[in-house]
Amino acid sequence: MDASPLKLIPISGYGGGRFQVPGGKKAGGFGLESVLIHRRIMLSSGFQIFRQGSAAVSQTIQAALQQAEAFLRVGKTAEVRQIAAWVAAKVGLGNPLEAVEAMRRAALLDPTSAEVALSHSRALAAAGLFDAAIAVLDDLIEAGHGNDAVVAWRGKLVSTPCFPGLQGAHAPERQVYMSAVVHMLGGTGLPVSILEVGTFMGASMVTWARAIEHFAGGIGEICCVDPWESADLSQYGEGMAADLQCGVAYRVFLNALAFVPEGIKVTERRGFSDQVLPSLAGRTFDIIYIDGCHLHPEVLHDLQACDTLLAEGGYLCGDDLEVQLHETDAAFVAAHARADFAQDPRSGEGFHPGVTLGVGTFLGPVSVYGGFWVVRKTKDGYRPVEMTGKGLLPYHWPQDFIDRAARAVREAGWLSEVL
Ligand SMILES: C[S@@+](CC[C@H](N)C(=O)[O-])C[C@H]1O[C@@H](n2cnc3c(N)ncnc32)[C@H](O)[C@@H]1O
Repeated sequence: MDASPLKLIPISGYGGGRFQVPGGKKAGGFGLESVLIHRRIMLSSGFQIFRQGSAAVSQTIQAALQQAEAFLRVGKTAEVRQIAAWVAAKVGLGNPLEAVEAMRRAALLDPTSAEVALSHSRALAAAGLFDAAIAVLDDLIEAGHGNDAVVAWRGKLVSTPCFPGLQGAHAPERQVYMSAVVHMLGGTGLPVSILEVGTFMGASMVTWARAIEHFAGGIGEICCVDPWESADLSQYGEGMAADLQCGVAYRVFLNALAFVPEGIKVTERRGFSDQVLPSLAGRTFDIIYIDGCHLHPEVLHDLQACDTLLAEGGYLCGDDLEVQLHETDAAFVAAHARADFAQDPRSGEGFHPGVTLGVGTFLGPVSVYGGFWVVRKTKDGYRPVEMTGKGLLPYHWPQDFIDRAARAVREAGWLSEVL
């Protein structure tokens, strides 16, 4: 094979990348660099993982690897190392398993590089393959090529759950308000039971678990309902759909279970809520959190089914209520009921019409705190909830999200204390 079929040209200004393959310059109408920036989903150091769904970008990385393999065959090791490092800085394809494969190839090209091993490990973690992500680092350290960054990333992997895709990342303060609901429930001395419809990678599940540990005696159950791989992917963006479809979301959820305190039992109920919720008939929960399908009439059906499963005195709550039905144009909402997301013609705000319609139809106006909605069940029906008491910052989220949550909660001023 020709050792130089591709000409790599230097690029600058982003993430340490040093080469670009001509032809990979444009992807979906954007420059490669802007695609990379646009799809960068996790910004916190140590959790930095790139995703880009463009086939053109994927092909660019494949081409670079082929180029490096060709260089290796003719002994051009300096070029091989440069390309492996470039791939390490840029990797992250639409399908996370492709990123793993690309990094496996890059690591074979340069097995002593800490930079490449780190990217390989991050790609594995982004694909939910946590054991392998740790093993890659252990091998490097054992071979004497580890460095501080490798040790630090290993430390993070073993001490904190890693969520390569966080739902609700635009409003991390919602995690604090969720935990405050557990605090409001009060320490009754009895185990707390929570039903979560829509679990994805388990980030909200960990929020509930930590809240039970801090505010409710540490004993409880969280029942997680999600079809994971079988979910209707048409409602999701490319990255989330890929994470669900190829099993990443479920593997990350399994990994997150390792960070749930001992006294809390997590029950997995795999399936669509319309099938799973009726099978729970006969039992009740203290808190029910609805964050599954956001379309109408699915949200309405979830609310109806969950109503029968909620204990008196319990809290019914959910995510993504940016605009309430009584605040907007009901005809517009009805016309967009099967859109995941739309722009409210009155406020100009982005919102989830299916959530607005379902909640507005079943409950009417509810209490909303930064998009997190909540009501309390009484013998006389559902009542608003005043957000008071204590909340917990999401320490299982990356630091910049924790900082943003702390700032937002402080500015809103509803809670008396944030831990
Ligand atoms: C927004 S994500 C949940 C995020 C999660 N609660 C968190 O905050 O980390 C929505 C989840 O709902 C699941 N889902 C979609 N349709 C569903 C249905 N009909 N029943 C149950 N879960 C569903 C999807 O598979 C996806 O994992």
